[in-house]
Amino acid sequence: MSDKTNRTFTLTDNTTGKSYELPVLPASIGPDVIDVRKLYADTDHFTYDPGFTSTGSCESKITYIDGDQGVLLYRGYAIAELAEQSDFMETCYLLLYGELPTKAQKNKFEHDITYHTMLHEQLMYFFRGFRRDAHPMAVMCGVVGALSAFYHDSTDITDPKHRMVASYRLLAKMPTIAAMAYKYSIGQPFVYPRNDLKYAENFLYMMFSNPAEEYIINPVISKAMDKILILHADHEQNASTSTVRLAGSSGANPFACISAGIASLWGPAHGGANEAVLNMLEQIGDVKNIPEFIARAKDKEDSFRLMGFGHRVYKNFDPRAKVLQQSCHDVLNELGITDEPLLDIAMELERIALEDPYFIEKKLYPNVDFYSGIIFRAIGIPTSMFTVLFSVARTVGWVAQWNEMIEDPSQKIGRPRQLYTGETGRSYLPLAKRP
Ligand code: SDX
Repeated sequence: MSDKTNRTFTLTDNTTGKSYELPVLPASIGPDVIDVRKLYADTDHFTYDPGFTSTGSCESKITYIDGDQGVLLYRGYAIAELAEQSDFMETCYLLLYGELPTKAQKNKFEHDITYHTMLHEQLMYFFRGFRRDAHPMAVMCGVVGALSAFYHDSTDITDPKHRMVASYRLLAKMPTIAAMAYKYSIGQPFVYPRNDLKYAENFLYMMFSNPAEEYIINPVISKAMDKILILHADHEQNASTSTVRLAGSSGANPFACISAGIASLWGPAHGGANEAVLNMLEQIGDVKNIPEFIARAKDKEDSFRLMGFGHRVYKNFDPRAKVLQQSCHDVLNELGITDEPLLDIAMELERIALEDPYFIEKKLYPNVDFYSGIIFRAIGIPTSMFTVLFSVARTVGWVAQWNEMIEDPSQKIGRPRQLYTGETGRSYLPLAKRP
């Protein structure tokens, strides 16, 4: 790394001629940052960056994205390598601890997670408060938030042991809660987790087995699910992770913070996009209708957007979409699904969009959500559960980032300021004197 210390940016007020030196903090890779922490004290001015397009909210060592090159690294390891050669439990260990585990560390980690997959029996009653047709993300927000009412022995965020116990509990219980949300929605009995199954296998077992018959794990499907979990595990300071960090910065307990992250992920511009992609493909209905929808996506007067396309950071192919595209074909081939019309529409939509000057100029490429929904649908997961699966995968990223924030000595409560353009002060007018 070149010697970047002592670099500064000079800011000059062109009305007073006064200059301010802003230090540059060097990154190990990617953009350096201009440290504006003293800007308000020195200049009586705030920076202004709605949507945080040019703002670094924190220092992190967990995930790195190069949007122009389409690069995604978890603790320095390329996502395609991890998806091909690792598994989700090992990736969770890597994200949480920063290093790939030894064989002994991996076995202990998997054992500890496995033996936390059951829920307190009382929690089952929370589901009954929801209508059966409640969106499963609403159930996830409620039940995950309720965990803070059950696990008082791991909510002291200043205690690293408490934090890790809470992190393990969240990682272990999310698949169980997600599968219960699904079973509740279809009126089937909850399925208890099994300690002899791997994480992804256990999730599929809790989702699809029932008391009336034996459930056979399909290794191709469970491998695809494990790969999908890896691909969705973390993604730098996205909206839901930033939500978890902001909630955690006030000292809120980890269960409440993850519930806040689930709520943010639910939005169709974020994790809800995988559900929106399937709904969009079904709305398009036939390859011949694609040009109409491409035209709508380009029409400034039309709020329609091509779901699964575009990204705040990636201005190239989302590397996760490339891996998912292959997994999509593997799953469909394994299941003998050769006539999936939605996949035909998706492939033709991708081909047309990538040749269209509007999408090329705006650097709108397929993102992680473009293919995941087709795989989930092929596995038999209902569209309303797609974002729930995303939240199961992303929980490890949320808790890793949450732990990193709390351990950061420079950490303060997040409290952004604003550009105020409202009324500048007026006297109250009693009702009797108003027109
Ligand atoms: C995820 O942050 C993360 O890392 C998120 C995520 C993760 O792993 O956590 O990667 C997961 O959320 C992926 C994104 C899933 N969302 C979607 O697929 C929804 C559709 N995509 C868009 O809503 C949009 O692309 C966003 C929200 C993803 C990004 O929006 P930005 O960065 O705020 O960009 P923008 O809205 O300012 O768009 C820039 C231009 C605009 O046109 P102009 O105003 O410049 O003329 O591109 C256009 C937009 O109108 N545009 C699109 C488009 N996305 C952007 N036009 C049509 N279709 C689209 N999908």
